[in-house]
Amino acid sequence: TAAERPDAFLDVDDLTRQQLHEVLTRATDLKERQRRGKRHALLEDETLGMIFEKPSTRTRVSFETGMTQLGGHAVFLGPDDIHLGHGEPVKDTARALSRYVDAIMARTFDHSDVVELAEYADVPVVNGLTDDAHPCQTLADLLTIHERFDGFDVDVAWVGDGNNVCQSFVLGAAMTDIDLTVATPEGYEVSEEHMARAAELGTAPETTHDPEAAVDGADVVYTDVWVSMGQEGRRATKLEDFDGFQVSTALLDDQYVMHCLPAHRGEEITDAVLESEGSIVWDQAENRLHAQKGLLAYLRGV
Ligand code: CP
Ligand code: NVA
Repeated sequence: TAAERPDAFLDVDDLTRQQLHEVLTRATDLKERQRRGKRHALLEDETLGMIFEKPSTRTRVSFETGMTQLGGHAVFLGPDDIHLGHGEPVKDTARALSRYVDAIMARTFDHSDVVELAEYADVPVVNGLTDDAHPCQTLADLLTIHERFDGFDVDVAWVGDGNNVCQSFVLGAAMTDIDLTVATPEGYEVSEEHMARAAELGTAPETTHDPEAAVDGADVVYTDVWVSMGQEGRRATKLEDFDGFQVSTALLDDQYVMHCLPAHRGEEITDAVLESEGSIVWDQAENRLHAQKGLLAYLRGV
């Protein structure tokens, strides 16, 4: 029997493998419809509430335009726009918003905040990035890899911080049987909890502290910033700790290169690599739109 549709998407493993494939198939179909200019107003008159405690370019604009294309509307709620963070608790925000909107997307610092939102909301809650996870990014990444390789029989090397983007990708790789190796400096590994969840879903990635070893034989090399939002105070230490982990032409052979963006050229990646033929970062960025439209339609049951 098919698993019930989840009422929240807080990390990739809130979906079953089957549901993940349904969302990605839906995303591909919606992308095609948009390309051909075919109307696809699946969420007509529906509203998405978007809570942002941190800045965003891609997440905000892809969710907002995505809702427009689906015939609905999105409300941007930045850190100075609502009472959340200024005295109103998460659980009250969740219940009040649920009386107006049809779904909530939230980008927070603490992952526990999106968990609490989901617990108290009566509408689907989507994680738009927390300190621990970025599952919408993973959906777009999987779509991008599938388009490029016509499947998931792909070797990916993550080089850099075992951060939110990496942790969700670890789950996505486990659920699609992507062959993943994660190379981080010591002390920046993927959490034990995410490794255990990946093992439960399929396979936990191989891990190493040697970027050269990880990249050797890979089809794709994926990296992200060394200093994530909220970690600005740790910048000097992190820059030192990540010495040797830059994705540069010296490290690569002819692998495709992925980055969730925004990129910090000269830190985790060089300008030459980011601008190279093999860089598929703009496809990733575009696919945020299509992947999230597929997800929203799925969660709303249409
Ligand atoms: N990749 C990503 O989530 O980008 P933004 O921070 O611009 O939303
Ligand atoms: N790891 C980065 C991703 C930004 C999309 C951060 O959390 O800032």
